[in-house]
Amino acid sequence: MRTKAWFMGHPVHPMLIGFPITFLSAALVLDAAGMIADRPAWWTVGAWSAAAGVISGLVAAAPGIVDYLGAVPPGSSAKKRATYHMVVNVTALVLFVIGWWIRGEAAARPGWVVVALELAANGLMSVGGYMGGTLVYRNMMGVDHRYAEKTKWSEQTVKAAAGEMVEVCEAGELKPDQMRLLHVNGQRIVLANTGEGYCAFQDRCTHRGASLADGVLICGRVQCLWHGSRFDVKSGECERGPAEEGLKTYAVEERNGKVWLRTPGDGNG
Ligand code: FES
Repeated sequence: MRTKAWFMGHPVHPMLIGFPITFLSAALVLDAAGMIADRPAWWTVGAWSAAAGVISGLVAAAPGIVDYLGAVPPGSSAKKRATYHMVVNVTALVLFVIGWWIRGEAAARPGWVVVALELAANGLMSVGGYMGGTLVYRNMMGVDHRYAEKTKWSEQTVKAAAGEMVEVCEAGELKPDQMRLLHVNGQRIVLANTGEGYCAFQDRCTHRGASLADGVLICGRVQCLWHGSRFDVKSGECERGPAEEGLKTYAVEERNGKVWLRTPGDGNG
């Protein structure tokens, strides 16, 4: 699924998370070692490392929130995972802030309570990191798996009254086997050129909510990338699980060199 916060095509959130992870784990090591060896210089550096970790963590969170709101498919297992990922990591930052508040100033001896908070925060960060990894490797958040121009990512917002035929593109705009994610009155609909004509169907995979616009379209079938369910894009029928339910489809017409979509009624497709 293409990221919404990118730099030269690369997702920004994973580029930045190395900073808080480094600073916050260094803070724990320096504070604990400083306490054991009774070295004020070590825990002072630990305190500043904790501060740098919290600040860089907040900076790294910003593109993460952009992707959370704009890229993770709504109502999917990835959305749930991303929510836990966010809550766990924010809690880790809050524990570091509480640790700073307890110690009062950078040069002050942190004490074992602060070290324990930092240890717990690092544990939470590891859990959050595991979930972040799953979002990338399993849910393909920020992964661009497309090849050549055939399936280049494409997205468009369409506004029209419910039940109206609305022009969505020129007939030659999408290449055969190319899809476009349409946001139609708050609903996510995939417009697809099967090579034998256009059709439209719901974006949400009926298994765990992956975006089918991010899947692979071939021979009039779309395959979900998360667990491999396959659907006939014209009838919406589910041909291969683990999904059990078919997809909602929408009326599409080609007229005068243009493609028209009948917009879904409020919330009922
Ligand atoms: S979300 Fe599991 S197959 Fe689509």
